[in-house]
Amino acid sequence: MTSMVAYVASRNPQSQTLRSVRLIQDAVSANIDAEWTILTPNDTTILPSDGTASEFSTGVNHIELNGLDDSARVKKAIERCDYLILGSPTYGHNVSGDMKILMDRLTYWGHLFHLAGKPGMAMVSATTNGFLEVGELMERFMESLGIIIDETAYHTTFTPFDEAMADQTAAAIVRALNTLRDGVVPETSERQELAFQSYKRDYARRDGSDAESRYWRERGMFDCATFHEYVETRRKLPESVHAER
Ligand SMILES: Cc1cc2nc3c(=O)[nH]c(=O)nc-3n(C[C@H](O)[C@H](O)[C@H](O)COP(=O)(O)O)c2cc1C
Repeated sequence: MTSMVAYVASRNPQSQTLRSVRLIQDAVSANIDAEWTILTPNDTTILPSDGTASEFSTGVNHIELNGLDDSARVKKAIERCDYLILGSPTYGHNVSGDMKILMDRLTYWGHLFHLAGKPGMAMVSATTNGFLEVGELMERFMESLGIIIDETAYHTTFTPFDEAMADQTAAAIVRALNTLRDGVVPETSERQELAFQSYKRDYARRDGSDAESRYWRERGMFDCATFHEYVETRRKLPESVHAER
């Protein structure tokens, strides 16, 4: 069954971001049978980065390994899902602190394009201003992980996210899921292609003792001329291998 995961980084019991994601859930569910996991900081603890950055060179995050928070569970859910929604309120023209914590903890995946080819989107809420900046931040972050992003959805006081918007968003999600099912290779972004070339040049020079160049070697990333080609190789893998990623 199709698996949908949303992380909504608001603690507000009346969260508009969460309400909007639930509208999207209803609209998607009218079209396809999907299993939804919707996480918020109220039910999921993700500790901030400890600043050592050791996960970049070792590939292992010790906060996660020590089981000090729920990050292992969240990361597994994100890795395995067919479609990812990241939702954030606008706080001072920026993402919420909880979203920033998740972003910090997943930054090292960006060097690996760990979610290469996974479809996803951002959902951003605000009262009046600063939401476009947040949408931009979320889009850049999701792209850095290798996600193929759909248009960001917004809720604001003057343009509340409603059923009609949810239907439009759901149509885009269903399209992306159909593309995935049919094995069609989606368009990658120019930013992703540039970052792929830059990391490739950098990691190819290393001796392979670090986790990043090992990851690239093991997955044949150095053999891919473009990020698009890499996504193509990932999409050709059998389902069981995808589940293990
Ligand atoms: C600390 C804080 C900062 C905020 N900063 C902004 C802002 O810069 N621009 C804005 O339009 N709304 C701002 N808001 C309002 C929220 O973005 C708005 O209420 C949004 O719906 C919150 O999402 P939520 O309902 O999912 O919690 C702020 C709210 C808080 C609590």
